Amino acid sequence: MNQTHPEPSFWIGDIPIYGRLILAPMDGLSDASYRWITRKLGSAYSVSEFVNTLDYANQKKYEKKRLLFREEERPFAAQLLDNDAVRMAECAARIEEEFHPDMIDINMGCSAKSVAGRGAGVGLMKNPSLVKEIFRLVSQAVHVPVTGKMRLGWDESSHNFLELSELAVENGAQLIALHGRTQKNSFNKPAHWEPIAELKKRLRVPVVGNGDVWKVEDARRMLAETGCDGVMIGRAAKANPWIFSWRDREQIPVQEVYQLARYQLQEMLRLQPENGLMPFRKYLKAYLEPYQIPREIMKALLTCQDGTILIERIDQVFQSLGADLDAPQIIDFSSLSQEV
Ligand SMILES: Cc1cc2nc3c(=O)[nH]c(=O)nc-3n(C[C@H](O)[C@H](O)[C@H](O)COP(=O)(O)O)c2cc1C
Repeated sequence: MNQTHPEPSFWIGDIPIYGRLILAPMDGLSDASYRWITRKLGSAYSVSEFVNTLDYANQKKYEKKRLLFREEERPFAAQLLDNDAVRMAECAARIEEEFHPDMIDINMGCSAKSVAGRGAGVGLMKNPSLVKEIFRLVSQAVHVPVTGKMRLGWDESSHNFLELSELAVENGAQLIALHGRTQKNSFNKPAHWEPIAELKKRLRVPVVGNGDVWKVEDARRMLAETGCDGVMIGRAAKANPWIFSWRDREQIPVQEVYQLARYQLQEMLRLQPENGLMPFRKYLKAYLEPYQIPREIMKALLTCQDGTILIERIDQVFQSLGADLDAPQIIDFSSLSQEV
């Protein structure tokens, strides 16, 4: 990474960040394998899928795998989701001790009814005094920088991201990521980017913009139009992890898609031998989207229950698309080098 970015692009507290594109945390998508792949392709740091600290505190229904990461993946932020400042602070301290993340991130954006309804996730945006308390107590409880990810507000009539971001920063937040939507503003309406520019002007800590970056050009435009320090990319990354190398999907040769898909499947099976296949399917579907694969072949891929057979089928389908199964790796994902 240092070769392409000799100077840090920005700092989160005392952590230098090299690069301006960042994989957005996504429940069910940004698992350890995928985060590692995107880091190797250029994502500047990683954020875990949210960890519900109510579950972590009870050690119930809680998935330890969400907090596992490779040493080489650092900087790694553990994202916490809850509506109780004391519990979040206690869990943050325990997570720091158990998993050694580089940062703790506070989720103020999740809009799932079960989450927002109990005042967690974006529900926190209705409760500034709780936001203040969470950042105050979590920052006191850990030795690493604390960051926050939020939306514009609860609804269009209550954009309070400026007030809440300032409160968070006054109480220890070292970076704010802003998704340019409200809780009510679902994905079918475009994200607003002007508020990201407003926030950047207001805060002394770095601001990461997020929402509707689909192409490399969008990322460049968000950086230029808002002055934000980094750009978080979520849904677009599912079909195009190469976006973190500033490349659009159309630019990626089938050989590279093949090698990445094969590595990802093997890695997911290695990390989750029991159930790595299922979560891999959504990626495979997205990677194959541009090639008009016959329906029955697609079905055979996406319903396959056996890892070894799926690897064979992936080899066959990509060979039929022109991939050379024996060619050397274009990107050595398995290498432990820091170089991206
Ligand atoms: C499937 C899915 C899961 C998500 N899970 C999380 C999460 O765990 N934590 C979080 O802060 N945001 C989560 N988000 C929100 C994304 O991080 C991001 O803010 C949002 O998708 C907008 O960015 P995009 O337009 O680039 O997709 C999730 C989004 C999606 C689509």
